[in-house]
Amino acid sequence: MEEKNIQINSAFADSSWDSSMTDIVDRSAQAMKKSRKGEAMPKQSKLDSLEEWTPVEEVIFKRRSIRAFKPTPLPGFMIRRILEAGRFAPSAGNAQPWKFAVVNSPEIIAAMETDAVKMAKLFMWMLDYSRSTFRRIFLKPFSKLIIRMQCNQLHPVPFGLLRQIAAGRAPVFHGAPTLILLYEDRRGVSCPATDIGVCGQNMVLTAHSMGAGSCWIGLVKLLMYLPRWRKFFNVKYPYKLENLIAVGWPKVKSDGQVPREAQLVDWYEGGLNSAPRVEKLGV
Ligand SMILES: Cc1cc2nc3c(=O)[nH]c(=O)nc-3n(C[C@H](O)[C@H](O)[C@H](O)COP(=O)(O)O)c2cc1C
Repeated sequence: MEEKNIQINSAFADSSWDSSMTDIVDRSAQAMKKSRKGEAMPKQSKLDSLEEWTPVEEVIFKRRSIRAFKPTPLPGFMIRRILEAGRFAPSAGNAQPWKFAVVNSPEIIAAMETDAVKMAKLFMWMLDYSRSTFRRIFLKPFSKLIIRMQCNQLHPVPFGLLRQIAAGRAPVFHGAPTLILLYEDRRGVSCPATDIGVCGQNMVLTAHSMGAGSCWIGLVKLLMYLPRWRKFFNVKYPYKLENLIAVGWPKVKSDGQVPREAQLVDWYEGGLNSAPRVEKLGV
């Protein structure tokens, strides 16, 4: 397991933006492939405390991103309970810098999928210089500049996924019957994006606790380049829409946890002059 983690970490660690796009995408694909392999729940005994995982811990450790859904949506009361869990999330200054919308319409979701795929194709057409010598010569500097400017959005993982989507090998919204839009209110206290993360995490954990499946979809950002969708979903100041959560009944059984990095945690337990004790968390 440790070896697997190290391989995955190094796949990300050396993804320097100076390497060729092909390298980046290949490494990302490798990392994604490796991360598909299932992993058992963490061993409680290793942490030396309570006998059993608490119900909350069980939900945290067993939740997976679900990417295949049955067409029947969750009943309204379940969706409302998921929203309610989001509404009760903590936020800086209790600012609650969010607004929710529920898309429960196959027609709208199909149109969103079509346009998101078009945008993925457009991005790949503009940025993937690995496809021909001509592109390698003339497109590379431009692509590199854009990638540097958008280094989070065009990180190897989303970039690899974008390529799959553009090639028709992966969907954007995973055929989910319901999408919960998480609008971020930019006027929030401190860092509203963090609050949105906490709020969404409440939602995905609640969905899992009720036997439903969920998946964050950051790629909804693709639609935000299109005025049509910004207008349709009323995305204007102070709101922005960078994430949504797809929910529904899972079509397939989860294949176990995605591996997580081991963490070296510094424990500051001595005086001001003593170095922290380093403890490894994870195998
Ligand atoms: C903010 C955020 C955005 C994400 N965006 C996407 C996405 O656009 N498409 C997707 O398939 N998964 C997306 N994911 C899911 C991650 O890929 C997933 O959480 C990660 O691989 C770990 O797998 P797990 O959730 O099954 O444990 C996103 C997750 C987060 C937290």
